[in-house]
Amino acid sequence: MARIRILVGSVFGGALLTARELRKDLEQAEHHVVVLEKPSLDDITSNDDALLVCTSTTGQGEIPETLLPLYLELRDKLPLQQDRPFGVIVLGDSSYGDTFCGAGDLMEEVLYEIACRKVSNTLRIDALETVNPEQVALPWAREWAASLDWE
Ligand SMILES: Cc1cc2nc3c(=O)[nH]c(=O)nc-3n(C[C@H](O)[C@H](O)[C@H](O)COP(=O)(O)O)c2cc1C
Repeated sequence: MARIRILVGSVFGGALLTARELRKDLEQAEHHVVVLEKPSLDDITSNDDALLVCTSTTGQGEIPETLLPLYLELRDKLPLQQDRPFGVIVLGDSSYGDTFCGAGDLMEEVLYEIACRKVSNTLRIDALETVNPEQVALPWAREWAASLDWE
């Protein structure tokens, strides 16, 4: 059983719905899951749960407003989280070209800066290919969470 905090960034609700579906599914697999719809720094520094970013991309490769304050605080304060496991699920749209799924890259960068350790490759979900991001995210997240247990 893993302890997981899902950090949500969403504008229109797709990533939020995905995070909620992930919680239901992962809880059935006996994981302990908290969905943070507007995560603060304290939400992550008060514990050592694994971090699962579940964000969409907005603007030109930018992080949605629900997640931006945490991103900025992490970048400013750099609170070391040595070896803390994290994963990234990012929603985007490949018609945006170079900025496709840019929010996931930004979150990955800052989590590396505070010494977190990435588990699994980032899952990029393209709105041009799927209208149900949760269907793609669920199997990925099950494997991701199980691999935390094997460590
Ligand atoms: C104004 C706007 C800007 C966007 N910019 C990007 C972008 O730069 N890169 C990208 O990959 N997707 C971009 N998208 C696509 C969204 O990330 C995608 O539709 C996502 O599924 C929305 O998820 P949400 O419902 O959680 O906000 C943009 C969408 C909108 C409406």
